[in-house]
Amino acid sequence: MQKIQKEHLYKVLVIGDLGVGKTSIIKRYVHQNFSPNYRATIGVDFALKVLSWDAETVRLQLWDIAGQERFGNMTRVYYREAMGAFVVFDVTRPSTFEAVTKWKEDLDSKLSLSNGKGVAAVLLANKCDQGRDVLTNNGIKMDQFCQENGFVGWFETSAKENINIDEAASCLVKHIIASENDMLQAEVPDTVSPQLNSPRNASCSACFRS
Ligand code: GTP
Ligand code: MG
Repeated sequence: MQKIQKEHLYKVLVIGDLGVGKTSIIKRYVHQNFSPNYRATIGVDFALKVLSWDAETVRLQLWDIAGQERFGNMTRVYYREAMGAFVVFDVTRPSTFEAVTKWKEDLDSKLSLSNGKGVAAVLLANKCDQGRDVLTNNGIKMDQFCQENGFVGWFETSAKENINIDEAASCLVKHIIASENDMLQAEVPDTVSPQLNSPRNASCSACFRS
């Protein structure tokens, strides 16, 4: 008998200040290429990444939200029904790190899961090929920062050199599946919910809600 393959579709937001590399990360992740030229995103762009997740298929619908949108009033509309988020900053520009908490607050104030919890969010310290000024100069303890600000993990990434992007996405998917299981259990307390959260070799450098 043919086994029916399960499919999951998740909307994932990619947010963070202007020029931190959101579009570049998505381009690297989905199309395996990189361009050094900067063209600011206007409004929102979309990309689809299809993953094999054990015996199942995961479709990530990536919403690439322009950095300038934090000052507009459309984020509430863009965030709707998302299951997870990447919040990105540029390790060479401290102001973009300072904006991380503002983006996270914006996210949490406008979006929550049906069980009232916040969506899974992973923090990306991008452009690590250019140094790690923000991380070293300020003595920022990233693990602590993530715990205090409700991130499930963080990764130093480079869209240019293709560092840690797959790993960060695996971490996010793992936590999205876990929160989906949580919601299923809350909705149908007397039945056994499907075990979607099978371990995969995702080398999640800092998972606080495993
Ligand atoms: P907005 O659309 O304005 O919000 O910006 P964005 O966050 O989408 O930034 P984008 O991906 O357009 O990248 C901005 C600039 O940074 C571009 O010139 C990219 O080539 C460069 N860039 C992005 N990621 C990296 C990286 O990992 N390393 C280096 N060296 N440059 C990067
Ligand atoms: Mg962009």
